[in-house]
Amino acid sequence: MTSFGEDTAESYDETPRGDEVAAVAFLEQLAQGGPALELAIGTGRIALPLAERGLRVEGIDLSPAMVARLHAKPGGHQISVAMGDFADVAVPGKYPLVYLVFNTLFNLLTQDDQVRCFENVAAHLTDEGSFVVEAFVPSFLYRLRDNEYVEAEDIEVSRVTLDIGRHDPVAQRLDESHVVLSEQGVKLYPIVCRYAWPSELDLMARIAGLALKQRWGGWNKEPFTSSSSLHVSVYAR
Ligand SMILES: C[S@@+](CC[C@H](N)C(=O)[O-])C[C@H]1O[C@@H](n2cnc3c(N)ncnc32)[C@H](O)[C@@H]1O
Repeated sequence: MTSFGEDTAESYDETPRGDEVAAVAFLEQLAQGGPALELAIGTGRIALPLAERGLRVEGIDLSPAMVARLHAKPGGHQISVAMGDFADVAVPGKYPLVYLVFNTLFNLLTQDDQVRCFENVAAHLTDEGSFVVEAFVPSFLYRLRDNEYVEAEDIEVSRVTLDIGRHDPVAQRLDESHVVLSEQGVKLYPIVCRYAWPSELDLMARIAGLALKQRWGGWNKEPFTSSSSLHVSVYAR
């Protein structure tokens, strides 16, 4: 909750991630006409352009600040959002497409919660439905010296952003903060994740009665290889 307050919501859409067009095209192909459900919908970075393609999109999120941004955008008021923990998937009905992107599965900080999320998604998928997860591959964390890093993320004349992280390989946890230094002072944007390797996610899916149907190295269906930094995985019954 503290990671996605007013400050983060205000700046969230300033620097788009750049994968939006490809992600929307990928998801639309799997949506079977909809409706689609986005877990952790945020400010609608993916949901809004997907809805513009004519699909009904619904969402779940915990952050009133992020959802207020979504609803203030053109077309945003047409997207219904259930406020709550996406691990619960507390919505009525079933969906041909449920998706969870931008590493956000890892915002659930225990293995139990991540498994629970898979189980609850499975209960809300139609028989032919797909659950799409996009997340980083943790390899880079195993190349760190002393399990820590500081990176100069952005350097401007009057503003510097540092990305600072500490990795715990036993808890599979990354504590990270984006630190903005400027004439206005210092601002911290902390985020914690409990990451999992793709193989662990496949086991979570199996516990939930799902199986891996596709795995790509990116939204443009790049091959998934040992050097892929992220994966787009499609689970179904
Ligand atoms: C990195 S943003 C991603 C938003 C959107 N999916 C996107 O791709 O731009 C993460 C979102 O997950 C939400 N979130 C994090 N943990 C959550 C939880 N347990 N339940 C519901 N929402 C959560 C945050 O409020 C935030 O809006």
